[in-house]
Amino acid sequence: MFRIPTRVLITPGSRFRIPEILESIGAKRCLLLTDVGVRNTNWFAEVQQLCGPHDLDDSVQPNPKSRNVDRLGAQARAESYDVIIGIGGGSVLDAAKAVSMLATNEGSIVSFEGKNRFQNPAIPFLAIPTTCGTGSEVTWVSVISVPEQSRKISVKGDAMFPAYAIVDADLIRSLPISLIASTGMDAFTHAIEAVVGKPANPVSDALALNAISLLMGNLVAACDPHGPIEAKEQVMLASTVAGMAFGNADVGAVHCLSESIGGLLDLPHGLLNTLLLTPVLRYQQHHISEPLGRVSDVLNIPRDAFFDRLQAFVESLPLPPWSSMDIKPAYFDELASNSESNGSTGSNRMDLRAADYLTILKGM
Ligand SMILES: [Fe+2]
Repeated sequence: MFRIPTRVLITPGSRFRIPEILESIGAKRCLLLTDVGVRNTNWFAEVQQLCGPHDLDDSVQPNPKSRNVDRLGAQARAESYDVIIGIGGGSVLDAAKAVSMLATNEGSIVSFEGKNRFQNPAIPFLAIPTTCGTGSEVTWVSVISVPEQSRKISVKGDAMFPAYAIVDADLIRSLPISLIASTGMDAFTHAIEAVVGKPANPVSDALALNAISLLMGNLVAACDPHGPIEAKEQVMLASTVAGMAFGNADVGAVHCLSESIGGLLDLPHGLLNTLLLTPVLRYQQHHISEPLGRVSDVLNIPRDAFFDRLQAFVESLPLPPWSSMDIKPAYFDELASNSESNGSTGSNRMDLRAADYLTILKGM
């Protein structure tokens, strides 16, 4: 099955349609969620004005924390908000999505871990991405860090899809180059894992392969400060398209590991995926050769050169190396165990256990 109930606006300038969207859903009590970095951009005041009367909260942190989401959920119920607007990267969008669900469901976000564990539909959520990687604007999942448990949880629900995704490439014009690279590679990882995973279907494949082509063809230029603006627009388009793909076909082992590491050590999601991508795919290569072959064909890469070309692509981006993550071997056992417990590990074609994740970590 493939579904995408979110209404998607995907052209530069689509932010100017926010007022008519809010009017069409009859919004009266609006909470606008963001983070300090976005709030300090030179365009934020303009977008804020387009959102009409609202309460503003900029407290979302990278790898959004359950305690903050719970606080915002309680605020949403107390204030009877009828719409949530999230403006930011994956952390802001995931937090805002969680709050839109907690607005109608009492309890801690931790108690809703899993699929469809809540009773009442979320209130309408407008997702406005400001990076080019998350895909959260078109998925049903919110990934939240639980520091007390040193892990991340996924909360998913049919009634948690954003009502609208407002994907406006104008909002990434001032994004630092390193964030374009790492979030673009998060999108690339979403697309690759959507293709090689067990739940893939023909529609998700079509979207994911398209996103892979767009990213391979435009991400390096998008990271060039003097590159064409069209490259950034194509990368942002690819991010949302990849989101539609993995939102239906799931992610896999790369994300199982990166979410474990991010949950325990609070390291950046996109960068972890970037650095893990080639080694994790290579480890599974005998189980994913058929779908990876289709990826090679779309990219016009000889199938036996795929991993070398992929790694060369990764290394052409302005990103730090794995050693800079400084992940101590003392953490490896816990990280491997948490990776096996990740809700997406069952989507891998290869039956990956903690021992496999441990071997990958030791080989990094
Ligand atoms: Fe991701």
